[in-house]
Amino acid sequence: MKCVTLFRDNEHCWQAFGQDPDKPDNVVDTNQYVVRSGDAAILLDPGGMEVFPPMLAALTREIPVENVTALFLSHQDPDIGSSLPLWRRICKPDVKIYLSWLWAGFTAHFDRDAVFTTIPDEGMEMSLSHDVKLRFLPAHYLHSSGNFNVYDPKARVLFSGDMGAALVPADKGNGTMFVSDFAGHIQYMEGFHRRWLGSPQARDAWVAQMSKLDIDILAPQHGLVFKGDDVRRFMDWIAGLDIGSGLAAMNR
Ligand SMILES: [Fe+2]
Ligand SMILES: [Fe+2]
Repeated sequence: MKCVTLFRDNEHCWQAFGQDPDKPDNVVDTNQYVVRSGDAAILLDPGGMEVFPPMLAALTREIPVENVTALFLSHQDPDIGSSLPLWRRICKPDVKIYLSWLWAGFTAHFDRDAVFTTIPDEGMEMSLSHDVKLRFLPAHYLHSSGNFNVYDPKARVLFSGDMGAALVPADKGNGTMFVSDFAGHIQYMEGFHRRWLGSPQARDAWVAQMSKLDIDILAPQHGLVFKGDDVRRFMDWIAGLDIGSGLAAMNR
């Protein structure tokens, strides 16, 4: 599995893990992220149980697993956090697990013994260390009804979950984890966003909220990472996209 550093300032860094060449074809590709500050680390969307072995191997090439102080699950999907019981087995017993209050009882179906720190609908701030604070920002209905993004104002990185996700065929990658041709990348995002997003009001609220932030890097849970001008290009593109394509099947 690849590991790419998105941001580094001394002990503060963001790393993306993904594009595992050994991943079975029928398992949707995911990106897992780690935010580190000194000896503290949080895993953002640690992934499905299928990616746990390569993810653990890649992570422990970077940091000891004892440094993982927190796990964050943006929403309830299996590709987000079905690895949770496996992580809890190897992390310290006091590892914090952040999840929307809405999903705690449902996520218990794959880890009954997990104790969640539930995130209220309006979001919250968490301190990774004394000088790195992360904001869990509401992104409800995009696509999950209880869903959060993670913003780091110092690094100016937004982890956007399924917003910005792309399904890039393994043989169509550009060899990096970054978008290099926004127009050419749309084909890998369009069907996903049109089908998975159903609420134009939620989309508009997300664009309004995120447009107020300084974002150098927008890092989604699938596909390639946007940086620089491509962040604004993504905002402009999603703001005008016709979403809710699944409705067509109901309106016949
Ligand atoms: Fe999802
Ligand atoms: Fe996803």
